[in-house]
Amino acid sequence: MYSEKVMDHFTNPRNVGEIENADGIGEVGNARCGDIMKIYLKVNNDVIEDIKFKTFGCGSAIASSSIATEMVKGKSIHEALKLTNKAVVEALDGLPPAKVHCSVLAEQAIKAALLDYAKKNNLTLEGLEDFDFEADPHHDDVHEEE
Ligand code: FES
Repeated sequence: MYSEKVMDHFTNPRNVGEIENADGIGEVGNARCGDIMKIYLKVNNDVIEDIKFKTFGCGSAIASSSIATEMVKGKSIHEALKLTNKAVVEALDGLPPAKVHCSVLAEQAIKAALLDYAKKNNLTLEGLEDFDFEADPHHDDVHEEE
């Protein structure tokens, strides 16, 4: 049911932890399953030098956060903004349909952290002006098949 990549990132997650004095922190939750994801960013010259996460959630959420942090580490904040949950699912070699919302949490947590960084530095992040990380775009397909 789960790909080897998912199992690998679930059993051996990368970038777990917290960053002291982080430049940006994002926390999002999924109202239905109650899972919570927190992302910490260290940014230097608009480049993500370090990123850590804490996920209180299911295995797919842990695997999604692990691979998502690897995908944006070393990237500029503008490149990181382009990370989609679809790219996270592809990088994991797929997730079962009922678990796709877990990857949405990873995209949203990273965006929330970028937004926090932008606010603290008076930056405007294009495309994120109206970003509402409380919103759950996959509301309807959550847990229905479980
Ligand atoms: Fe809620 Fe995976 S994030 S079940």
